[in-house]
Amino acid sequence: MDWMNQAALSAQKSDAVFFYVFGLSVVFLIFITVLMIYFVVRYSKKRNPVASQIEGHVGLEILWTAIPLVLFLSIFYYGWTNYEYMRQAPRDAMAIKVTARQWSWSFEYPNGKQTKVLFAPLGKPMRLDVRSADMIHGFFVPSFRLKIDAVPARTNTTWFQATKPGSYDIECTVICGVDHSLMLSKVVIVPEEEFKAWYFGGEDAQEPGKALRAAEAHPDLANQPMGLAVLTAKGCTACHSVDGKPKVGPTLKAIYGREAQVLVAGNLRTITVDDAYLRRSITDPAAQVVRGYPPAMPKTALTAQELDEVVRYIKTLD
Ligand code: HEC
Repeated sequence: MDWMNQAALSAQKSDAVFFYVFGLSVVFLIFITVLMIYFVVRYSKKRNPVASQIEGHVGLEILWTAIPLVLFLSIFYYGWTNYEYMRQAPRDAMAIKVTARQWSWSFEYPNGKQTKVLFAPLGKPMRLDVRSADMIHGFFVPSFRLKIDAVPARTNTTWFQATKPGSYDIECTVICGVDHSLMLSKVVIVPEEEFKAWYFGGEDAQEPGKALRAAEAHPDLANQPMGLAVLTAKGCTACHSVDGKPKVGPTLKAIYGREAQVLVAGNLRTITVDDAYLRRSITDPAAQVVRGYPPAMPKTALTAQELDEVVRYIKTLD
């Protein structure tokens, strides 16, 4: 159960605050309930047929103002110091750019490697610079108790240091459209050597944590054709299938060479899907909108090489 797991320092910190507040609440619940029952019995009408007026009590007033004040300030202090801890990454942390978009996550490492799954070494601090390409999303790793909003046009920073190897869920916590609930990924924590072998390895270095993830039905990015890897890494597969199933956008299967009706500046045109059309559809989605679909495709920055790979890959899908 991910919720029970404490897999990072942030989880231990966060749970400590949670159980402190929870413990206080339980103690007061019991104290108040017992007192209430006692008062109901002790001061019932049967025992006190004639009501008596009670004047104020300065000592009590001070006591029940001071004690809650101190308790609330302690909750604030505990919560605030932990908040600061989670927002200020150590200097030596590795900085990863986290990008949220409808409806996927992508991660970019300092050396330019890009992934759909967040790989991190055990026991090393990792800084996350979280951004959004389109709208507000929420980056959440339950096992790390790590949660931060991904907001367009700003970067929110948090960090973690994993304490247990394993594969942990990443979820989006802000409703962001039809496939919000499918906006999932994983953090995969592996021993440092395994991480380094992948990180410093070349293009075809094996992704770490293979054995760990084998049991999970996660696509194996390392063995995919380059074009498909780009489609997955850039979040295209959230809206486009490659097997013929319709999603938010049309499937990319067997579209090459086909005639299609598209709206160009509001006018219906019949075009043939060729290289130029594909490139334009991807780099300037609003220019031609496939008939019957909403103009919902976001602009996504692709390098020239990534674009080549995607177009080449779409041609192979028949
Ligand atoms: C949020 C959903 C969404 C995402 C993400 C998305 N698309 Fe689209 N895409 C659409 C929709 C909807 C259409 C149809 C309307 C249009 O043509 O703009 C479309 C159209 C297309 C077409 C034209 C298909 C045809 O049948 O003529 C191509 C090619 C394409 N997208 C490629 C991509 C690539 C490559 C990416 C990733 C960089 C991507 N899309 C990301 C929703 C999306």
